[in-house]
This record gives sequence, structure tokens and C-alpha cells, in this order.
Amino acid sequence: MPGYELWSNLEKEHVNQVLETGILMRYGFDGPRKGIWKSKELEAAVCSTFGCDYAQLTSSGTAALTTAMSALGIGYGDEIITPSFTFVASFEAILSIGAVPVLVDVDNTLTLDPAAVRKAITPKTKAVMPVHMCGSMADMDALQSICKEHHLFLLEDACQSIGGTYKGKSLGTIGDAGTFSFDFVKTMTCGEGGVVMTNNKEVYVKSDGYTDHGHDHLGVDRGADLHPFIGYNFRISELHAAVGLAQIQRLPSFLATQRKNHQLLKSILATVPEISFRRIPDPSGDSCSFVNWFLPTEEQARAVVQDMKAQGILPGNFYWYDNNWHYIRKWDHLKQVLTLNSLSPELKERVAAATNADLSASDKIMSRCISTSVSLLWTEEQIQEKGAKMVAAIRKVLG
Ligand SMILES: Cc1ncc(COP(=O)(O)O)c(C=O)c1O
Repeated sequence: MPGYELWSNLEKEHVNQVLETGILMRYGFDGPRKGIWKSKELEAAVCSTFGCDYAQLTSSGTAALTTAMSALGIGYGDEIITPSFTFVASFEAILSIGAVPVLVDVDNTLTLDPAAVRKAITPKTKAVMPVHMCGSMADMDALQSICKEHHLFLLEDACQSIGGTYKGKSLGTIGDAGTFSFDFVKTMTCGEGGVVMTNNKEVYVKSDGYTDHGHDHLGVDRGADLHPFIGYNFRISELHAAVGLAQIQRLPSFLATQRKNHQLLKSILATVPEISFRRIPDPSGDSCSFVNWFLPTEEQARAVVQDMKAQGILPGNFYWYDNNWHYIRKWDHLKQVLTLNSLSPELKERVAAATNADLSASDKIMSRCISTSVSLLWTEEQIQEKGAKMVAAIRKVLG
């Protein structure tokens, strides 16, 4: 997925402009910064590139999720429905605001199953948070209509799907709010960073204050700013924003390469009739950061993984079912609610109940799934070679 693979002079130029002024902070220091406002510029570029009215940069994608939830007014005891296949950050953010992550099944889109969402709604549900995993999207029409019907917020964790779209709209800009991560391995990176995107001015103004200790940012003197509410420090630095500004300018070429490489590798894998691919609700909107494929059975998927490992071609291929970061099966720390800070016994009990539910439908999907990350550096020849080795391993297992 990563823009870091194509580091260029443009990133260095933007960073050097900041280093020359020495003003690494995004707010204040109006004189010495000599007109260099990288964070503000990147926020404007996010709005114009992805098509949203407002963007608030943050120090990470996790901070962006926490900020968006707080700005939407979600908090203690509220439930947020989110998928069993995601990154740990999704539930970390939910727990950080005192809410309950209700993890439900994914379907063959590898994102929220709308039927599972419906079943999980309770009077305490405040939001549905689809996670557009591995570059592609949830069924947004179905989720939007559920949210409308039940008066729930729709918060998109689009941290992994920069550049993806659904029916012409950028992922992350469709719900009440959406987030990207700009950490080191995302399609465009700031090194570390994230963003909250929204078309709702109130959500934006709250996000703006929340990420900077509650400052109202209305005056020119930071010391005289008022604090209409309590916030935190989730600010991005000018150095990180400078990297992001270069990367967002280069994003169209990253995405074009990603799509080209994805298409070729997928077409090679598709020569094996037993392989099926992830269902993509809007195929033209796939950002193509991963080729996600299924074997008919768990045993076959495990055997293919073993064979690729033995051949030294496993790197870049992910069997999420056994992975500690992305699938609930291995999240004992969540299921046992092992927090450092103490939670109220009632909340702890509810989190344990919500994260120990039956997710056998997800198991059936995830145990057969292998995802191959798409590199921007591959040559056509390398893709042919990689694809041929993968196909050989798969055919060997399938007999
Ligand atoms: C789905 C998802 N959500 C949230 C995050 C958190 O982003 P960050 O690493 O910038 O905190 C990530 C990061 O990988 C992610 O994949």
C-alpha cells in the first residue's frame, strides 16, 4: 500500500521549508513562520482531493477516531457497532471515550455484514463504524439506510482505504465523519498522522478544539484563547504535515500504479478456478492496496500459507485469521478487558460480553482468506514471477 516506497525530493523540499523557519508547531508563531503553514495547506488539500467540506489533521489515525467520536458526542456507556476484522485501533479509540465496542460479523466484503449490524442494535447503540479494510469498502447504501432508520451516526474508519471511492464519493467522506491514517504504511504517509473529515461544521469545530486542549482558535493570541470544552493534545507537527503535503500531490500516481499492479496480479490468481475474490460493493472504487482472495477451505488456506512460507514467498501475504493485529480471534487482551486504567465494573462486564459473542460467520470467511499487499515498486516481470509462484503453490495444495 505504501507511499513510503516512493520517497522523493518533493517530501524533502516541503520538510526543508519547515526546517528553514524552525517553526515545527502548527499553531501560532505567525511572524517567524514566514507564511509557512503546512498543516493548514494539507487540510485544504485533503478537502479538495477527497471532496469534503472540513478536515482536521491529528497526530494519528487512532487520535482521529477518538476525536471524531468525541466530536459526535459519543461517550460513556454508548455502544458503537464495528466489525470483527479491523485493526486494534478501532476498539482502542472506542474504549478511550468510555464507550462499548460491539464487534459483529463481517461478510465476504471483509467489512460489516449489514444483517449482523441490524441484529446488534440496542437502545444504547449510538453509532455504526464500518472499517473499509484493505483498501476496499463496506456496503455503504445498506449501512446508511440502517443508520437513518435507527437515528445512528455513521462513522467511517477509512484509515486503510485512502483513495477508495463508493459510487463516486471518497471513502471517509460519506458518513457523519470519517478518518484516514497517515502512518508509515498507508497509501500516503506523513510518517505519523491522521485526519478527521466531515461535512458538518459543528463536528469540525469540535474536532479542531479537541485536538488542541480545547482551544477555540478564535483569536490571534493562543494564550487568550477560550476553552469551551476540555480537549487533549492530538496535534500533528508541521514536519509531518510537510511530508503529507508532498505525498498528497503524488497520490494520483501512487493510485494509478497500485491499480495497475493489482489488476495484473489478480488476473494471474484468477486463472485458478477454485480461488474466489472478496466481493466489492463498488468495484470501480477499490483503491487496490491488496488482492484479497479465498480458498475453498481453511485447511487449504493454511496449507497454501505453509507452502508459500517454505518457498520464502510469504512476505507480503497475510493470513489474518492467525494475525494478532487485525482479527478478534487473537485479541485476548480485549476479550479479558485488560486495561491499565480501571473501568467501572458495569462497563467492564458489558465490554467483555460484547467482545466474546459468537462470530463463527466471520471465522468461516477469515479462515479461508489470504490478502496479498500490492507494492508500488514491482515491475511487470516481478508480478508475473510472483504470481506464477503463488499459483504453483496453490495448485500443489489443491492437487
Ligand atoms: C483500520 C485502521 N484503523 C485505525 C488505524 C490507526 O491508525 P494509526 O496507526 O495512524 O493510529 C489503522 C492503522 O493501521 C487501521 O488500519
